Amino acid sequence: MKFESKAILLVLGIAVFMFLGTYFTMIVPLMDPSLTTPTEDAKDYTALELQGKRIYEKEGCWYCHTQQVRNLLEETQRYGMGEEETFKRFGVRALIQAPPTQPGECVFDKPHMLGTRRAGPDLARVGGKYDNSWHINHLRDPRSTSPGSLMPAYTWLFDIAGQPTQDAIALVAYLQKLGSNINWREEGVEQVKKLSSSTNTTEPTTAEGIQQ
Ligand code: HEC
Repeated sequence: MKFESKAILLVLGIAVFMFLGTYFTMIVPLMDPSLTTPTEDAKDYTALELQGKRIYEKEGCWYCHTQQVRNLLEETQRYGMGEEETFKRFGVRALIQAPPTQPGECVFDKPHMLGTRRAGPDLARVGGKYDNSWHINHLRDPRSTSPGSLMPAYTWLFDIAGQPTQDAIALVAYLQKLGSNINWREEGVEQVKKLSSSTNTTEPTTAEGIQQ
């Protein structure tokens, strides 16, 4: 007699397969300690940054922005630091790749903002890329800092005199915190300085992303 014709056996068989599937694809990965262990540099949000995160959630910035650098050269280079930036800030010409996002960076994110859709660039490493006044001008009028930008102007985060409200200040504090759970800018520059002192070349040095 066929296996399918024995109803009880069939139901039991389905239950066993569903249990095994759930166990190995959901429960085992959830027990991975790297999901709950913060990275070495990870710090919880301050009250102001947390308020900014709530504005980010409320305003739907995550409709257009992801917060995850994938392990692809196109992304680690794009969201890393270019020569101009390293020269201006650290006095060395270098290309520094952004490290891919790690689970330990996101342990304080409830809910996490990894996102699914990129109409704008990824923001996981945006902290420290611009100064606060750039962000304020960009939120007030994205076209003033990024000509042709599709991003909406968040005029309601500013008062009638055009000054940033507490919400805008908190949002900028949150944006500046993004990516700081890995000290990649300073560590990348240090790595480059070490490399260039040993090779003694005038060419820009390329540092691989810092893997922890
Ligand atoms: C309709 C889609 C959309 C929404 C919603 C949106 N953005 Fe953007 N954003 C963009 C686009 C497109 C760019 C690239 C052009 C530019 O710099 O303005 C961008 C750029 C940025 C940048 C600069 C990134 C970089 O690396 O240069 C920041 C920071 C940013 N957005 C923050 C926000 C915040 C905060 C919110 C919510 C208050 C938000 N965005 C909402 C589309 C969007």
